Amino acid sequence: MAVIAVFNQKGGVGKTTTCLNISASLAMLGRNPLAIDLDPQAHLSIGCGYSVVASSESISAFYRDEKALDALIRYLPSGLRLIPSHPDLSKVDALLGKSTSVAGKLKKGLEVKLAWEDAPVLIDCCPTLGVLSLNALFAADRVLIPVSADYLSMQGVHRLEAALNVLEGPLKRKIERSVVVTRFDSRRKLAHEVYDQLKERYGQNLCDTRIAENVSLAESPARGQDIFSYAPNSQGSQDYGALTMELLTKGFFE
Ligand SMILES: Nc1ncnc2c1ncn2[C@@H]1O[C@H](COP(=O)(O)OP(=O)(O)O)[C@@H](O)[C@H]1O
Ligand SMILES: [Mg+2]
Repeated sequence: MAVIAVFNQKGGVGKTTTCLNISASLAMLGRNPLAIDLDPQAHLSIGCGYSVVASSESISAFYRDEKALDALIRYLPSGLRLIPSHPDLSKVDALLGKSTSVAGKLKKGLEVKLAWEDAPVLIDCCPTLGVLSLNALFAADRVLIPVSADYLSMQGVHRLEAALNVLEGPLKRKIERSVVVTRFDSRRKLAHEVYDQLKERYGQNLCDTRIAENVSLAESPARGQDIFSYAPNSQGSQDYGALTMELLTKGFFE
């Protein structure tokens, strides 16, 4: 079981889109992935067709009622497994925020129930570095960081790096990270500049595959579908297929 947190404290950079479509691609390859929606906005759940889920049947129940993670799994026709979210999850900070063991709760929950599985777990994080994202980062073997190809997103990377470096102290290990450029418009000079700057900083840890700006990727969540079901011949489908293959080749899910 490799656990991957898809994280960036900036919103709108493509975390959910990346988590959904890499998970879907892994499902098509028969890898039996589990995607966990750890954002109270529940965008990943909506993108998977689960727009209305009871709080008691969402990841919220793991935090509030000690429900086991495996009891919360939904099985999608595509082969993807999902633990959905609920807006209630936003109360977890207030509910558990002061307890010292809370940052390790998800890690423990995964170890108890799912550690025996040879299947990747992908966690879609929310855009803040609170209790929920700490849970994801503590549980994760690796972090996948989507960065959209624009100036402000590039600025956010500096802050993100500082935060991850600070976290390595209490974690007592390096946080292995890979960066993927999203919303790449090859006609824009700025997009190439962002990619080149990230290449300088991350070298091998920057994915060669860039996710192009693609209208089908923006449309598919409204249908509750991943890109491979919604628009199998689209650029978005090609890009996320290629990204998944690149990460598999690099051993990212092992
Ligand atoms: N490559 C892309 N091309 C076009 N639209 C995209 C792309 N990636 C994401 N989007 C859209 O941008 C918005 C933000 O993406 P999302 O994945 O939800 O970001 P985050 O989870 O980081 O907040 C969504 O409406 C999504 O559909
Ligand atoms: Mg999101």
